[in-house]
Amino acid sequence: MTLNQRLTLLLLLGLTVTSAATSCIFSEDGAGRCVCNSMGILNPENLMCLQASELELRDGTLDVSEMAVSGLTLGFQMIQINKLIFNNVTISFSFISVVISFLPRNLNEIHIISSTLEVVQHLQPPLLQEASRIKTLYLEDTTVDPSLLQPSFQALHRWLFGPLKSLGLVRSGLVETDCIWAQRVENLTHLDLSENPISYTSLQNISHCASLSFKYLKSLHLRHSNLTSLQSLCTLLSLTPTLTQLDVSRNNFSILHYPQCFQVKPLTMLNLSHSGITEVFHDPPQTLKKLFLSNNRLIRLPSLDNLSHLQVLKVDNNRLTVLITETDVSLSTLEQLDTLHAGRNPYQCDCALEETITFLDSADMKVDSGSLIFQQGVIKSG
Ligand SMILES: *[C@@H]1O[C@H](CO)[C@@H](O)[C@H](O)[C@H]1NC(C)=O
Ligand SMILES: *[C@@H]1O[C@H](CO)[C@@H](O)[C@H](O)[C@H]1NC(C)=O
Ligand SMILES: *[C@@H]1O[C@H](CO)[C@@H](O)[C@H](O)[C@H]1NC(C)=O
Ligand SMILES: *[C@@H]1O[C@H](CO)[C@@H](O)[C@H](O)[C@H]1NC(C)=O
Ligand SMILES: *[C@@H]1O[C@H](CO)[C@@H](O)[C@H](O)[C@H]1NC(C)=O
Ligand SMILES: *[C@@H]1O[C@H](CO)[C@@H](O)[C@H](O)[C@H]1NC(C)=O
Ligand SMILES: *[C@@H]1O[C@H](CO)[C@@H](O)[C@H](O)[C@H]1NC(C)=O
Repeated sequence: MTLNQRLTLLLLLGLTVTSAATSCIFSEDGAGRCVCNSMGILNPENLMCLQASELELRDGTLDVSEMAVSGLTLGFQMIQINKLIFNNVTISFSFISVVISFLPRNLNEIHIISSTLEVVQHLQPPLLQEASRIKTLYLEDTTVDPSLLQPSFQALHRWLFGPLKSLGLVRSGLVETDCIWAQRVENLTHLDLSENPISYTSLQNISHCASLSFKYLKSLHLRHSNLTSLQSLCTLLSLTPTLTQLDVSRNNFSILHYPQCFQVKPLTMLNLSHSGITEVFHDPPQTLKKLFLSNNRLIRLPSLDNLSHLQVLKVDNNRLTVLITETDVSLSTLEQLDTLHAGRNPYQCDCALEETITFLDSADMKVDSGSLIFQQGVIKSG
């Protein structure tokens, strides 16, 4: 169906929308993005949104009365979006159970932000014909009615979580998990469980689940998760043989020990920013390409021995008084390093700084050290 045909059809249907004020804002940046309050998309005045690739529905309640069903399913089938965002809405399960069978064909990404998924009346789980095409599901600050997690919805769970590649459950009150749920998401490549009061006992427990392995997981985010040691992650990491990116920023490590289990991981990115780190013990994993240690309380640059693959190092906003000294030349062993952020540190202007400048000057890299900016070997005063 061409866009014009779709427009005509919508106009003929004369869709009525229950919300009092329904409006959309269409921006043509990129592939086109439409932000509508509530179900403004169904208002014939907002037909330009049919061309958007990204649709955000915000502020209000998404519910379907019997009468609106045909308009709603038709409207959803006609939009071309690949990304759907719900923001600050209360979504009733009756809405989900209707639209789930009529999702736009290209839709592969759903974000639900600051919203509530509720079950008003008891409903049968929807009958799902085709396999889900949703690859990314991201929930942030969202409350999910516990009855939606019950075994009576397990067909829906399998349908949704089976084909999923990327899952985010951020700031959503996740406390524990079990074998059934862990197994449902075993094929993810990206998992973000940041900002939850998650229990590490329950995370450690899943290592006992029968033949569980997150064998495709490449990136794991546990920002702001009340972690006090990396050691506590070893049991979980034993289930993630291919993990390359670990974000454990905004935790509380103070004295950081790299556990042995990190040495056998193919980790290339480790984010340890904003974690109150004062000292670091043992060597970081040698496979690292990016190491983020910004916004900590480091007095000395930690050992970077043997990090021959390191390309990006951020140690800005710490308490470093020297970056490099004659005796401790660990920085100069970093052959691949091309980006160094080392600004906002209380450097003392002495021989050590001169040493640093000489090193950086010869090192041909992009360096941002705050008041001094070094770029590709040229020293400029910032
Ligand atoms: C959320 O939506 C309600 C209407 O349902 C609105 O009154 C409120 O201002 C919205 N909040 C934000 C932060 O946009
Ligand atoms: C994960 O993928 C394997 C095949 O690679 C498949 O057998 C299994 O059912 C998948 N798991 C889920 C929960 O979909
Ligand atoms: C964080 O951990 C401490 C003890 O390690 C515990 O007392 C506290 O309740 C935890 N906070 C959250 C939000 O989980
Ligand atoms: C961990 O597993 C033990 C034994 O299987 C169980 O008793 C305990 O409740 C579990 N803890 C959590 C937090 O899941
Ligand atoms: C590292 O963590 C900080 C703090 O959470 C965040 O602002 C930053 O974007 C992260 N960087 C990367 C590359 O993940
Ligand atoms: C970090 O952990 C230490 C104990 O390990 C505790 O004294 C301190 O209050 C914690 N800080 C924060 C911000 O949670
Ligand atoms: C780093 O390299 C040196 C010299 O090659 C070696 O003696 C040392 O054991 C290495 N450190 C680690 C942590 O592998």
